[in-house]
Amino acid sequence: MRTLLITGGAGFIGANLVHYWARQYPQDRLVVLDALTYAGNSANLETLPAQANFRFVHGNICDQLLVDQLLAEEGIDTIVHFAAESHVDRSIVDPEAFIQTNVIGTHNLLKAAKKAWLDNPGSSRGRDGVLFHHVSTDEVYGSLGSEDPPFSETTPYAPNSPYAASKAASDHLVRSYYHTYGLPITTSNCSNNYGPYQFPEKLIPLMLINALEGRPLPVYGDGANIRDWLQVNDHCRGIDLIMNHGRRGETYNLGGHNELPNMEIIDLLCRAMDQRFAEDTSLATRFPECPAAKGKQCTELITFVKDRPGHDRRYAIDPRKAQKELGFVPHYSFIEGITATIDWYLTNEPWWRAVMDGSYAEWMTTNYCNRC
Ligand code: NAD
Ligand code: DAU
Repeated sequence: MRTLLITGGAGFIGANLVHYWARQYPQDRLVVLDALTYAGNSANLETLPAQANFRFVHGNICDQLLVDQLLAEEGIDTIVHFAAESHVDRSIVDPEAFIQTNVIGTHNLLKAAKKAWLDNPGSSRGRDGVLFHHVSTDEVYGSLGSEDPPFSETTPYAPNSPYAASKAASDHLVRSYYHTYGLPITTSNCSNNYGPYQFPEKLIPLMLINALEGRPLPVYGDGANIRDWLQVNDHCRGIDLIMNHGRRGETYNLGGHNELPNMEIIDLLCRAMDQRFAEDTSLATRFPECPAAKGKQCTELITFVKDRPGHDRRYAIDPRKAQKELGFVPHYSFIEGITATIDWYLTNEPWWRAVMDGSYAEWMTTNYCNRC
């Protein structure tokens, strides 16, 4: 039995990992540490099976005392570190919180892990049976041209947004704790995720909900930017494989082999919505503002807006290392994953209504993209 500390476990990917891990390894104890920022939501963990060996701690990874105490009192042997400020647009408007959580917070966790596992002379753990897994992003590698090969683990770092720079700094700190102190670490750099529980500031849930509500679908720039989309459960499986079989001190890129320009995704979502409304007349009653409820097409909501400053043109992952060493292959095709995601947001309307509170409305009306 392992005892995991999952930071940021009430956020999008963290919550999906908690559900995944409780299903996959029901004997393990799961301790979630989450500050419940605007992006964190304890409701994401409400449907865990009653028998799950689970504790939720409302707290901040920057609180060194709390993290030290938790590691000691719970006998944590595995840290899976998701907690972060994760939205590029917010990092452009106000980078400060990104430095605090993503850089200082990560360093606090590393210090705590080193103290608990390596420094404490009374600790029986040593380097065996402990692991700090750091969850990172492909954005640390910067932007690709249309003919460039995808990002591999040896692509030089070239972060372009304050978010990407803060994640790059955290990756370097994690690496340094392995090389300097021998702290057992692994890192995953993953491409864009989609699926259940994603906060509706990110492209896919934002477009879905805006279409249902009859609000503009804001396309940044020319809409030709490319992302490499991975269903979130496939990301969780990749993390599992790395934690259980990855070489310590190594980084692994995870991606879906699924490069798509933003406009293609937005068109696909609009067409899927039109079709759903045609097949199910109750949707028109539930969402009367959606163009599809009035016999029109959702694409009429598409609105080109000012581009994101420093907007990376293309991301693409070369996942061959994870594939070769760990057997990682995504299970979901994009069409299966996106269909299930649309179903999830249609079924879970109370979930997204609840997270779109006052601060969300304020962000949507004041961020730089929607001001222009
Ligand atoms: P998210 O914004 O949905 O969730 C972040 C979670 O961290 C929230 O629950 C929040 O409350 C918590 N948190 C924030 N600051 C905290 C602090 N100081 N102390 C404790 N908890 C704090 O993010 P996500 O999309 O689930 O991303 C999770 C991780 O995966 C991040 O590290 C991100 O960089 C990385 N990642 C995300 C994607 C993606 O497509 N979303 C892709 C690759 C990597
Ligand atoms: O690549 C991994 C990264 O993917 C993660 O590290 C980040 O945490 C995650 O937020 C995501 O970053 P992106 O910036 O790629 O995701 P976002 O959903 O914000 O935007 C995806 C693309 O869609 C991007 O090209 C910007 C564009 N976009 C986004 C929004 C929110 C729009 O055109 N309109 C929008 O309203």
